[in-house]
Amino acid sequence: MKIAIIGTGYVGLPSGIGFASLGHNVVCIDKDENKIKNLQEGRLTLYEDGLQDLFLKVLQNGRLKLTTSTQAVKDADIVILAVGTPPHPETGEADLRYIYAAAEELAPHLTGYTVIADKSTVPVGTGDMVEKIIAKNNKNADFDVVSLPEFLREGFALHDFFHPDRVVVGANKPRACEVIKNLYASFEDKINMIFVSRPSAETIKYASNAFLAMKIHYINEMADFCEKSGANINEVALGMGLDSRIGNKFLNAGPGYGGSCFPKDTLAMSLMAEKYGVEMSLINRTIAGNKERKIKMAERILSSVQNIKNPKIGVLGLAFKNGTDDVRESPAIEIISQMLKFNKNINITAFDYQANENAKKILDNQINYASSPENVFDNADVVAVLTEWKEFKTLDFEKLSAKMHTKRIVDLRNILDEDKLKNLGFEYSKIGSFQK
Ligand code: UGA
Repeated sequence: MKIAIIGTGYVGLPSGIGFASLGHNVVCIDKDENKIKNLQEGRLTLYEDGLQDLFLKVLQNGRLKLTTSTQAVKDADIVILAVGTPPHPETGEADLRYIYAAAEELAPHLTGYTVIADKSTVPVGTGDMVEKIIAKNNKNADFDVVSLPEFLREGFALHDFFHPDRVVVGANKPRACEVIKNLYASFEDKINMIFVSRPSAETIKYASNAFLAMKIHYINEMADFCEKSGANINEVALGMGLDSRIGNKFLNAGPGYGGSCFPKDTLAMSLMAEKYGVEMSLINRTIAGNKERKIKMAERILSSVQNIKNPKIGVLGLAFKNGTDDVRESPAIEIISQMLKFNKNINITAFDYQANENAKKILDNQINYASSPENVFDNADVVAVLTEWKEFKTLDFEKLSAKMHTKRIVDLRNILDEDKLKNLGFEYSKIGSFQK
């Protein structure tokens, strides 16, 4: 099939590379000239495990093309919209200007029957608007707009692309449904594909993200309870997760969720519901609780060094989670910012395997950036683990303990070996377990 994808972010680019690798002819379109130039020259503009090799392969065999010109949608069987829908700076609602602009620009170039599939996360009714915009800008266009929400996770984009839990198709025309079936026909796995109305598909995306965010908030509140009651959140999550109705995923207590999706989509869902006069009380509490959590976490790290005049704090991890270079709404960035606000005398040195450069764009010279995780320990009074990179687990803590001023670790991701660290003489604290 001929596929055009508008937007080369964390959804558009991995999807484009994935579809090209399955033998489709894909053109990825983005307005950002610099990004397209880098991509055309074989430089990936985001970090995703395993993506680089596949990218070079489809670039070299000509299945993937890159351009800044929306005219490239010409002859496409399907045009996938994968542009950003960031929170509107004033209202916090999903900002739809990029999606509407894309619809307007692509409309005149459509040829033959084309399915416009929206993969961007958009409020209910956006599909209707896109349909109107295209019809207005091309009176002869033969097209259908379907909602095709994307559920892939950053850091696991390729895995999730090739093995989706489900493909949700919001379409009401059989002709459009056939095109989507063909799009997924070459997948090795049997795809769990459901066909629903467009408003349902648009809602499924928000309802899923908000539910997962709530699940994280729930386990974090439970962790607070465990810290007071004498229970251990890891054990509690293990026991809960064995109930198949609950499931064992998204039960890792931590510093609160981040990323470009959950914070944005919970807020957008809440505001969207408000417009219909429906109060999303659970989601609202999740949003507020998740913000408060970052402040509590900053206080927790600072309280561990409260008797030190100019404490030196080491930070392991800046990305919003492991496996990505993305720092958007990263708990690590927020916690560091809060610490800097609370105590002007601290000195922070941080390290991330992929996100140092992106973090610099936000935190600039307010902190130091280490070139290795080991350097974070130099003369530190405490080292805090803020991102769950598994590589942190296998650091040589015996050697590192000698570098520290005070052997103290605050593990906000519960990834390190407590017994081992305590045996090495570390003062070790983590999330959701009773501190004697
Ligand atoms: C999320 C969803 O998981 C995807 O299904 C969805 O497609 C995507 O948003 C999107 O809307 O584009 P993503 O933002 O990549 O994916 O990240 P997640 O893996 O969901 O993690 C989000 C945050 O929750 C991270 O800060 C992570 O550390 C945190 N988290 C996750 C926890 O604190 N505990 C957990 O048990 C799981």
